[in-house]
Amino acid sequence: MKFDPSGNIQDLLQFGEYGDVNPSVTDSATFTFMQAKTMLETFKGEAEGCFLYSRHWNPSNKYLADAMAAMEGTQAAWVTASGMGAITSAILQLCNAGDHIVTSRTTYGGTFAFLNNYVQKFNISVTFVDILNLSEVEAAIQPNTRLIYTETVTNPLLQVSDIPTLAEIAHRHKIQLMVDNTFTPMIVAPARLGADVVVYSLTKFVNGKNDCVAGAICGNLSFINSLIDVNSGTAMLLGPVLDPFRSSSILKNMHTLHIRMQQHSRNAMYLAKKLTEAGIKVNYPGLENHSGHDTMKKIMHPDFGFGGMLSFDAGSAEKAAEVMEMMENEGVGYLAVSLGYFKTLFSNSGKSTSSEVPEEKQKEMGLTEGLIRFSVGLDHDIERTFEKMKKCLNSTGLL
Ligand SMILES: Cc1ncc(COP(=O)(O)O)c(C=O)c1O
Repeated sequence: MKFDPSGNIQDLLQFGEYGDVNPSVTDSATFTFMQAKTMLETFKGEAEGCFLYSRHWNPSNKYLADAMAAMEGTQAAWVTASGMGAITSAILQLCNAGDHIVTSRTTYGGTFAFLNNYVQKFNISVTFVDILNLSEVEAAIQPNTRLIYTETVTNPLLQVSDIPTLAEIAHRHKIQLMVDNTFTPMIVAPARLGADVVVYSLTKFVNGKNDCVAGAICGNLSFINSLIDVNSGTAMLLGPVLDPFRSSSILKNMHTLHIRMQQHSRNAMYLAKKLTEAGIKVNYPGLENHSGHDTMKKIMHPDFGFGGMLSFDAGSAEKAAEVMEMMENEGVGYLAVSLGYFKTLFSNSGKSTSSEVPEEKQKEMGLTEGLIRFSVGLDHDIERTFEKMKKCLNSTGLL
């Protein structure tokens, strides 16, 4: 079947209690039953359409989870209070003490910290690999490996994971592939390409408003049910559930995601080309000289472009600070961490979202100290934004 994430959202009709087109928020922690027997069946997961308690399921969360599953083409999904809530719950659900994980060396700093510093307390070991080097990935697999973990487009280096081949390697070794698709919703659907579990920080592009943190786990029904099993589900027992008010507001934003992704990609491509012409060495998967350009073309939906993320190296952390401060003053956007917002955001990755990665590891993975990562916004007049950027680059001696 053709991969059509925006068509899936368009076709999604979710009728509210009173015919409301935006389903009303279910502002309840607990739910009543007319018969005690139904409550017991709900506890056992046997009562279809019944809600028990909002840490487990809430109707508003179910609407958003259903929309995420429709977009990704998975059987089911569950929504969390943050992207880290999704990543950590999914990993801890799949891995037991004694298991081993193979992960991309470059991932979001929080994920790196979780895998490098935290899972060891559960006696889970981790091997960090260059995710572009598929023989290194395969060689790292051990008899106790449970999982290959990667990001579709890695944070902050924007390497592009070859998801179909990684899935093939994983499945040949009877292990699972988990993919963080935060940078590329609609552009790539990892589950359609063979990933077993897809995780998201909804905080970013999917919500797009920077008004909350949230996350999602998408996968097959038995995995999602295992996460919320009352006896052994990591999500049920650790409790990183999303608030229903937030689910309701994120759901509304999902219906404009396809338009936003197109504009983020269009603007990022424009800036990447103009900056390159001006003499800046830009890292953007949409450029033909990018190491992941061909892989991206193989896995992406052509309607949504190459994404809104790009980076370049200012040479040093000091120079990066100088140019970022000036860009903020000139109105290019905000000097802030995070991404996927309607305004352009930029930060020096090594000193911010990847600061959890020790300096020698940053060097090893090719993360230079002057790297500025941009999340390009929805500006209508992107030429004007480029002129402002050019002024800042000229004044700081980068051009
Ligand atoms: C790729 C990626 N995954 C996960 C996260 C974590 O998400 P959250 O901040 O919503 O917990 C981030 C945050 O920056 C991210 O960039």
